[in-house]
Amino acid sequence: MKVLVVGGGGREHAICWKLAQSPKVTELYCAPGNAGIAQIAQCVPIKATDVDAMVKWAVENKMDFVMVAPDDPLALGMVDALEAAGIPAFGPRKNAAIIEASKAFSKELMKKYHIPTARYETFTDMDAALAYIDQQGAPIVVKADGLALGKGVTVAATMEEAKNAVREMMEGGKFGASGSTVVIEECMTGPEVTVLAFCDGEHLVPMLSSQDHKRAYDGNQGPNTGGMGAICPSPNYTPEIAARCVEEIFLPTVAALKAEGRPFQGVIYFGLMLTPAGPKVVEYNARFGDPETQPLLSMLDSDLMEIFQACVNGTLDQVDVKWKSGAACCLVLASGGYPVSYKSGYPISGLEEAGKSAVVFHAGTKKGENGEILTAGGRVLGVTALGANLSEAIDNAYAAARPISFQDMHFRTDIGRV
Ligand code: AMP
Ligand code: GLY
Repeated sequence: MKVLVVGGGGREHAICWKLAQSPKVTELYCAPGNAGIAQIAQCVPIKATDVDAMVKWAVENKMDFVMVAPDDPLALGMVDALEAAGIPAFGPRKNAAIIEASKAFSKELMKKYHIPTARYETFTDMDAALAYIDQQGAPIVVKADGLALGKGVTVAATMEEAKNAVREMMEGGKFGASGSTVVIEECMTGPEVTVLAFCDGEHLVPMLSSQDHKRAYDGNQGPNTGGMGAICPSPNYTPEIAARCVEEIFLPTVAALKAEGRPFQGVIYFGLMLTPAGPKVVEYNARFGDPETQPLLSMLDSDLMEIFQACVNGTLDQVDVKWKSGAACCLVLASGGYPVSYKSGYPISGLEEAGKSAVVFHAGTKKGENGEILTAGGRVLGVTALGANLSEAIDNAYAAARPISFQDMHFRTDIGRV
């Protein structure tokens, strides 16, 4: 099969790496890809958000299957457009991708179908939002409605902080149109766990649990990032909690989307908080998480292409999704200053040495004029290692990353330990 993966980060590198191992995949393409992906797939210089150009290219080059990884093209309806052009595509249609694209929509859905989540109200009027904060008090959480690269959330310790967040979003236009509607919700407490699940519109197969590290600095300090590292499975996700999540959250969500005429095909990302009152949904995403995908797919023991096809064909119940035992850890090496401001274009050394004991997924890299690999983004690499247990996987990832260096390189030293 000729397969195209849409996207160009660490997640897409992991997806391509796993697909390249499938006997079903004879030709692998990635648009736009990056310097690491170029080592295993042919990169196509089309922006992930350019729906028309992507579909045109896929048709002209006779792709048998397209996997759409990032949130933006899903929200723009890339899967719908590919289907209309007769190409099977993995990922939710626009009307289901909305569970990520609109927090207001997903909160409504959870309320309607009694899926546990934080209490909330939605506002399009700033004065009403500010009055609600006065009434509720702090701590309280303020969220921009739309896609904001995972950064549109303020967990405010004080009412003043919450009000400033509302003003920035609704008045200052910090997140553009994404901030014109805000969701204000109850502040939950407890460990966070992520569970991704394959879905074919009707059936759901949860993957191993995982845990991201969203803050930039050690001890979960500093600004929110796209993710500074991830582990899988999460030690907090016990079999009892898993059973509860399937019963109270996962199956009801899939059934709710189907009942609403928005069957979900693709990967649903359940961001969960294990509160004293039980597991609750923090957020849904409509796709694989980044960097969670890197450790997760490293642990997958089945053919990913077969699973993708089963999701598209509605036959997920007939596939055996198997996992390796042990654990995996992905350590993100980022550009200094990320996520606020950083420079790119620095040469990276030590990649080959690191690759001997771990898989080094490229997130933001490009090839220089002389074939050298250069930094080209905030998150640069995701060094991913396995271990017999979590502690070993973490040690292996850090040990493997040691030879890698580039100017102003920044990473957290406590991935999997907090
Ligand atoms: P989100 O983009 O919705 O995942 O939010 C980003 C982060 O903010 C989450 O991973 C949580 O750490 C935190 N967060 C979001 N909503 C809440 C909430 N209701 N209570 C406490 N923390 C939250
Ligand atoms: N790692 C969080 C996300 O992909 O949204």
